[in-house]
Amino acid sequence: MSLTPLIASLPKAELHLHIEGTLEPELMFDIARRNGVTLPYQSVDEIRAAYDFHNLQSFLDIYYAGAAVLLHEQDFYDLTYAYLLRCKADNVVHTEIFFDPQTHTARGVAFETVLNGITRACEDARREWGISSLLIMCFLRHLSEEAAFETLAQALPYKDKIIGVGLDSSEVGHPPAKFARVFEQARAEGFLAVAHAGEEGPPEYVYEALDVLNVARIDHGVRSEEDEALMERLIAEQMPLTVCPLSNLKLKVVGHLNQHNLRRMLQRGVMVTVNSDDPAYFGGYVNQNFIELAAALDLSEAEIRTLCQNSFKASFLSSEEKEAWC
Ligand code: HPA
Ligand code: ZN
Repeated sequence: MSLTPLIASLPKAELHLHIEGTLEPELMFDIARRNGVTLPYQSVDEIRAAYDFHNLQSFLDIYYAGAAVLLHEQDFYDLTYAYLLRCKADNVVHTEIFFDPQTHTARGVAFETVLNGITRACEDARREWGISSLLIMCFLRHLSEEAAFETLAQALPYKDKIIGVGLDSSEVGHPPAKFARVFEQARAEGFLAVAHAGEEGPPEYVYEALDVLNVARIDHGVRSEEDEALMERLIAEQMPLTVCPLSNLKLKVVGHLNQHNLRRMLQRGVMVTVNSDDPAYFGGYVNQNFIELAAALDLSEAEIRTLCQNSFKASFLSSEEKEAWC
């Protein structure tokens, strides 16, 4: 029996979503046109054809190039509003959105321009559809510690609008410990912490994210399975992993979805969740991730329900809000 109607009907939270990764080729073209930005593509089809990645870096190069069309507050509003419409369609009732200020400030776009556009769309989605959102500001790990400190300083006046800090971009060669002092200051300022670790990087990076950055969640974390002691710790601490199946497939972290370890980790008691990461680039929003994973791994109805409940348990909602959804 198809689990698609169940997947569609269950309320869920999304905890691993880069807003820049929701830029669909059609919107990229529209915004490029109105901003007078020339894209290295002639058509939407040509853009989609370029989305043939062999690892994380080959994706990031194209992803940063696409984000270059975003210049004005309205661009960030339109981007975010379009994503929140997809949340409504997928019954995502709560979302914790990553944004990468350095991708934009490096091009001369003000921090406030980015934040105001995203925030205004989130407020409209809450008012119009009751979708709640929280924002997580990510540091680009291929850039310096000093650049991350500058970004943190820019965020301090907006602490009420940003729940936490994260760490993304090229993982291998840029271990979490590179940002130990930045995360220490961020946590002292009251930000929660998350970090991408164990996507392409080794289990040691997951340990560092936990022990050095003191994160509350690990983004991806799928390579944790290579270290039995780490697995036991993740289970004992109920440390959430925000897993992104279609991302792992498109970036060749797994060869085929039927080789994905999410079900094995779930059955062992790891607090895993399903998320879309960069859906415009990886071929599907949250429900599509559930649907393809359920088919590939033969997930049961009970497992789908647990994954949706986990998405709230692992969120940064208050315990009362979590209870309302679980
Ligand atoms: N990994 C690291 N950086 C990213 C990703 C990812 O999956 N998506 C957007 N930035
Ligand atoms: Zn990610």
